[in-house]
Amino acid sequence: MIVPAAGRGERLGPGLPKALRPINGVPMLVHAVRALSAATSVSLVVIAAPEDGVDEVQRALAEHGLLDGDGERAGLLVVAGGDTRQDSVARAMLALPDDVDVVLVHDAARPLVPSSLVDAVSAAVRSGADAVVPGIPVADTIKTVDEGGRVTGTPDRSMLRAIQTPQGFRREVLAAAHAAADPTAPATDDAGLVEALGGTVHVVAGDEEAFKITRLLDLVLAEAVLARRRASGVLS
Ligand code: CTP
Ligand code: MG
Repeated sequence: MIVPAAGRGERLGPGLPKALRPINGVPMLVHAVRALSAATSVSLVVIAAPEDGVDEVQRALAEHGLLDGDGERAGLLVVAGGDTRQDSVARAMLALPDDVDVVLVHDAARPLVPSSLVDAVSAAVRSGADAVVPGIPVADTIKTVDEGGRVTGTPDRSMLRAIQTPQGFRREVLAAAHAAADPTAPATDDAGLVEALGGTVHVVAGDEEAFKITRLLDLVLAEAVLARRRASGVLS
């Protein structure tokens, strides 16, 4: 499991790197790592931290009992990420041991992902798919627009899916996709790189709780989801 967590969170406004922003007082990344560790299909989590923030991320994980004092714990590794998400994922891939043959990539910015979704993506890859992404139907009508702000089209909404993470891959497929990727036009997800190579990407049912924290309102939603989980007796 690779967790790109090196983003700055510019759309959240000034503050800590996004992965360390708190939700109910606990860094987003800690929520994400707990959820991933609870998935039975995950044996190793490699986190790509901001290049100048590896120590800070290790300290935050240690504070919450996920790493011990010298930055170690079997099954969890922190490496330096890069300037783009694509670069962060590529750097984390270098830290994967040889015997890993299925790789999932999950954004730290989706901290409330249910572990059932992680296991479902992993199972779909293990049952033979090269690449698997979770998707949910889109609620809004989506339009394409040109640079002048004129609408150029309205794709049929029933054909559209909002794509989440974790995205799962056979390791060779993900490695080949990244090897062929253009660093000057970085992709916003890994499946996009597989598509660019002509590979087949399968969609499985996503989960609303795997939503991405992008703007401040998303933090409010995350705290509401945690409150609902607590009220229904699900630990967070
Ligand atoms: N990411 C990364 N390395 C980067 C940029 C992004 O690992 N150089 C990660 C983020 O940490 C996040 C995921 O990619 O988990 C999705 O990115 P996004 O939601 O865009 O997060 P940020 O880049 O942090 O946010 P913003 O674009 O608002 O700055
Ligand atoms: Mg970003």
